[in-house]
Amino acid sequence: MSLWLGVLCIAASAASGPPRVAQDHGYTPADIENGGRLYQAACSGCHGPAGDAIPGVELARGEFRRATSDTDLVRIIQSGIPNTTMPPHSFSDRDAAQVVAYLRNMSAIGAGSGTATLRGAGDPARGRTIFEGKGGCTTCHRVYGRGPRVAPDLSEVGATRSLPELHEALLDPDARVRPGNRLFQVLTRSGSRITGRLLNQDSFSVQILDASERLVSLQKSDLREYGFIRASTMPSYREMLTTQELDDLVGYLVTLKGLNP
Ligand code: HEC
Ligand code: HEC
Repeated sequence: MSLWLGVLCIAASAASGPPRVAQDHGYTPADIENGGRLYQAACSGCHGPAGDAIPGVELARGEFRRATSDTDLVRIIQSGIPNTTMPPHSFSDRDAAQVVAYLRNMSAIGAGSGTATLRGAGDPARGRTIFEGKGGCTTCHRVYGRGPRVAPDLSEVGATRSLPELHEALLDPDARVRPGNRLFQVLTRSGSRITGRLLNQDSFSVQILDASERLVSLQKSDLREYGFIRASTMPSYREMLTTQELDDLVGYLVTLKGLNP
């Protein structure tokens, strides 16, 4: 986890005060479902789908060595546990609370049995049609040498990302913008704003690939502000596509395993 995300996370939670977490466990099914998705994407790699993969830690049991209240759990999720491999997560208070909602209900919904929240992969051929057509994905993404370079190349995304991560990328692109994918923005002294991918910077200058793929080189002395921004430019497809279409898209993405598999 990058230092930058950690700092942002602390700043965000300080600004919004203590997280508003229902202590009476009054979670909605949507909270739990969302939390489950985040858990699969961010936690199950270490803790396992059933929450029991780390010796001495049983996330589904409802008893924690290091936490009693939900607020404690939110803090652990956001800040990690110092001097252990439990990392900080740049989750908003709400996302962290949803993960807690999921943890509190893991055993009840039979997590780890594979039925809880995992959504599958649909038809790759239909997915490809959506990718290149209605989904508009090729306006930003490059696959097998075709397409622009403003967003990450997806040619190997099926080899490097899990199913839940792919679903999450489509439903909630802001949830986890990867450090290498963070967008950089500058505001020049003349008032124009340029957003793109940071290629390089030194003490005096920055080089950005802007949205129309122009290489822009700027002197820092000409800039009013510059820095990484958090939000993804990728829209959420939650409302734009049906569940079936999303599954099909993921079905296509998992086939992308590099040109020379
Ligand atoms: C890189 C591996 C890793 C990831 C990813 C990870 N954890 Fe952990 N987590 C650990 C380890 C290791 C510990 C045990 C630390 C210790 O107490 O020694 C731990 C401890 C915890 C604890 C404290 C357990 C207790 O009994 O007090 C909670 C709660 C927890 N993790 C939740 C999560 C959640 C929720 C996520 C996802 C948002 C997550 N972890 C992601 C490695 C990880
Ligand atoms: C407006 C530009 C834009 C569009 C349109 C767009 N994306 Fe993205 N996408 C991005 C950017 C930028 C990132 C990297 C930053 C981030 O993680 O959000 C990204 C990230 C991703 C990732 C995660 C990549 C990784 O390495 O984990 C996947 C998967 C993805 N997009 C798939 C799609 C699919 C499928 C579509 C079409 C339904 C789509 N994108 C449409 C800009 C876009």
